[in-house]
Amino acid sequence: MSSQEIPEENLPAAQDDAHDAHGAVKVADEKNPFADPGLPPHEHRIQDIDERAAKRSERTVALLFTVSMLATVGFIASYLVIDVDKSIYVWPIGHISALNFALGMTLGLSLFCIGAGAVHWARTLMSDVEVADERHPIEAAPEVKAKVLADFKAGAEESVIGRRKLIRTTMFGALALFPLSGVFLLGGLGPAPGTKLRHTTWAKGKKLVNMNTNEPLRASDVAVGSLTFAMPDGLSEHDHDFQKNIAKDALMIVRIQPDDIKDKRELEWSHEGIVAFSKICTHVGCPISLYEQQTHHVLCPCHQSTFDLADGGRVIFGPAGHALPQLRITVGEDGYLEAVSDFEEPVGPAFWERG
Ligand code: FES
Repeated sequence: MSSQEIPEENLPAAQDDAHDAHGAVKVADEKNPFADPGLPPHEHRIQDIDERAAKRSERTVALLFTVSMLATVGFIASYLVIDVDKSIYVWPIGHISALNFALGMTLGLSLFCIGAGAVHWARTLMSDVEVADERHPIEAAPEVKAKVLADFKAGAEESVIGRRKLIRTTMFGALALFPLSGVFLLGGLGPAPGTKLRHTTWAKGKKLVNMNTNEPLRASDVAVGSLTFAMPDGLSEHDHDFQKNIAKDALMIVRIQPDDIKDKRELEWSHEGIVAFSKICTHVGCPISLYEQQTHHVLCPCHQSTFDLADGGRVIFGPAGHALPQLRITVGEDGYLEAVSDFEEPVGPAFWERG
């Protein structure tokens, strides 16, 4: 087959006597210090000289894009149909979630086929002409911008996207359908938390239990100047949801001389100077543990937010956005400290309040 039968986009650019087939100068001079670096002569691919081979490549690319579309549809169908608790045996991994397996396989296949289709398209049908380019000064002159634009248009033409309608249609189909997978994944974020983050396990009559000894706390157990960590009675480390609950329930118990308590509500919510504050920092939720008994300040080790436990848990330093929530406590008939109610505000980082 002669070069007349080769599509125009596959032919090298017209050359003059001073330049070789790749556009490089044949003889070095002052302006072009490097002559032809010796690239081998251009060889046409089978698709460049045989339209039937080009058609085969086109169909292969279209097939890959079509498989991608089917895989995306399979992803959505799997998400809708497969039970979240169903498990299957997959050798050699063992038993795994059927839903995760199906989502992973279909999503992977969909992405792979888009990539493989694009690579096959580039390697077999896009222009295959080698081009030598001179180094240019790094500046964005208007003519450079114009050239970039022209190159971009030429690239679009050379990609044959205008001529190969089947590829164009299936590629747009695959690319348009693929983001749907992400939309469906949003559903996997689960139900909205509702008011769950606003409440803890604390409730009227729940005893305060010392987290170190696992024993209920008597008022007489709490000495002035000491710091005790407490959790609600009934919480066990062996419960499956222990971590989830303790992340909201943990308390710091300190005893302050009632005269030193500046905040009126804090005094009312305490028992003879024993105050119970959330141990969860209101910045981003680190557990607070550093207590300075002279000043009644507690310091969060993460970003040094400092709270005044003698003044309603007010923030006196650092990035925390609001005061530490206080739990209203009292003493039951049996002499043990107990909660009067749940916290009256959400514990932990401020964004929970905005939910
Ligand atoms: S988490 Fe406590 S200061 Fe940042």
